[in-house]
Amino acid sequence: MCGISGIVHSENIGRNLFNSIRNLEYRGYDSCGMAMLQQGALDLRKNVGGIDEVNAVEKLDQMQGSIGIAHTRWATHGGVTQENAHPHLSADNKFAIVHNGIISNYQQIRERLQGQGVVFESLTDTEVFVNLLEESYAEFNDLEQAFLAALAQIEGSFSIVMLSAYDPDHLYCVKKESPLLLGLGDGCNYVGSDLNAFLEYTRQAIVLDDGEYVVLGQQDYRIRKLQTRELVEKTVLQIDWDLETSKKGGFSHYMLKEIFDEPQTLRQAMKIPLEQISTIAEMIAGAPHCYLMGVGTTYYVASISQYYFSNLADRYYPALSSDEFSVVSVESGDMVLALSQSGETYDTKTSLEYAQKKGAQTAAVVNVMGSTISMMVDQVIMQGSGPEICVVSTKAALAQTFIMIRVALELGRLKSQFTQKIYEGHQTDLEGFSTLVEQVLNEQSGFVRNIARSTSHVEHWLFLGCGVYYPVATESALKMKEVTYQHAEGMPAGFLKHGTLSMVEPSLHCLFFVPPPEQKNLHDRTLIAMEQVKTRGGTVIGIMFQGDQRAQAAASQAIQLPRVSKLCAPLLQMIIAQMFSYYAALDLGRNIDKPRNLAKSVTVG
Ligand code: AGP
Repeated sequence: MCGISGIVHSENIGRNLFNSIRNLEYRGYDSCGMAMLQQGALDLRKNVGGIDEVNAVEKLDQMQGSIGIAHTRWATHGGVTQENAHPHLSADNKFAIVHNGIISNYQQIRERLQGQGVVFESLTDTEVFVNLLEESYAEFNDLEQAFLAALAQIEGSFSIVMLSAYDPDHLYCVKKESPLLLGLGDGCNYVGSDLNAFLEYTRQAIVLDDGEYVVLGQQDYRIRKLQTRELVEKTVLQIDWDLETSKKGGFSHYMLKEIFDEPQTLRQAMKIPLEQISTIAEMIAGAPHCYLMGVGTTYYVASISQYYFSNLADRYYPALSSDEFSVVSVESGDMVLALSQSGETYDTKTSLEYAQKKGAQTAAVVNVMGSTISMMVDQVIMQGSGPEICVVSTKAALAQTFIMIRVALELGRLKSQFTQKIYEGHQTDLEGFSTLVEQVLNEQSGFVRNIARSTSHVEHWLFLGCGVYYPVATESALKMKEVTYQHAEGMPAGFLKHGTLSMVEPSLHCLFFVPPPEQKNLHDRTLIAMEQVKTRGGTVIGIMFQGDQRAQAAASQAIQLPRVSKLCAPLLQMIIAQMFSYYAALDLGRNIDKPRNLAKSVTVG
């Protein structure tokens, strides 16, 4: 939530600092701003709107100076106003800070400072801290000590970067439960709330741990523990993300570009060494209970995985939404397998902490290197999907599902659920899938676009499927809601007759995820539901496989996909549904990469 960036250089960094928050814009886009030190004085510019909008007014990219901080905001405390935007200045204009997270005791500090005559311009918890800095500096006359003394008074989870007119050469940074990373450049250093803050300038990164603070100079950095002030030695990571994958590369939106990245993402997921997959399968096999967990899309990925574990390994593991995970009475030795693209999602992180406290083993499939979740679990699989910039998750979700299929397959093998020949057949299916996806993306996009165009006016959708196609439908409905702002409800197709059928009329559009006919039971059940809608005058649209005449006859519009293995068929439909939502949103003129009210990683509860 929100993007933080800071740079210390010997040259003017206005343009680079601006670029860095532009690269972080997916983390929040209500308002943004920058503060730079220019000839000993702090220059602050901020306003409401997206980065380019604010820049048009405030000329952020033309700011001058060699040290500065920047922020792009997703509002939590205080509405979307210029005053509430970051950076915040102290009343004496000597301190500027950017802040992510929440200072939970800010109200009482605010009242105390107000009692001493401090006048606040904003409603944020952040402005309270910047004024605490001013107060502490008056007492200690030493910047590092003032920073620590002010930090000692605040509670909550936060990452903060401070720039002060009292020290033109250093930024002061702290991390507590909200991510913060350093980027080490050549004669310059960076700080950011994620790698995208500085990936354009350096590939050398240090991930800060909770309770660490840094004094960051142009050539030097000192990382210490907050509690003891002891110096900490950190590993410097070499980031291998390809910069090009974080660019739009000729596509009109990141969402479409990231859908077209999917063949490559699948290849990467296939390259994950088998030992990593087997380790997780063994952990699951040895645990008395196993829970699959994620939230939003990753919850649906967990739900899809549930079916694969049942089918391939004959094991039922409940999928839970991280925000509701506390209902589980986890016991020592149990296994919790979490999914998170960002690796920073508050609900997932706190549920993993809860599970760890109860003595559970934890594992996760994560995309972002160095993220909190990737570091906190006992075993991690880095999915290697590259930066996913669009707020709406596509390629990362697909890769996670694919990786979970690999885990389920290994568990099945471990439990001797099938012969070696069948196992090898499944492996061949997985290996060949990326090529088929490439072909389908190229061949189908025009067709999907036309159907999406002809239905973009539809305000209410039911997305329906049976078996594993049911969570595929719910995930696809979330995609539709997120990016088009239209109502789409995912539901098991067999559930329809138990109530929702009363809503059916021509304006209600039902998108069916139709399994291949050889999955007879699922196929028959889906067809029955299609007929139920059709008979009552509802509009039936189907995503189906070629040669399925029964499904074609039941649907008024059909997207027909090439035949693919039973293992990969749900994934192919998931991709088509992503594309369908994209084109519907395009037709509606939505803010596709940054849908209203959302942010890419939700690091607050
Ligand atoms: C996906 O399209 C959503 N933007 C959202 O539901 C997301 O999947 C969820 O917030 C979890 O995020 P994570 O994968 O980064 O943990």
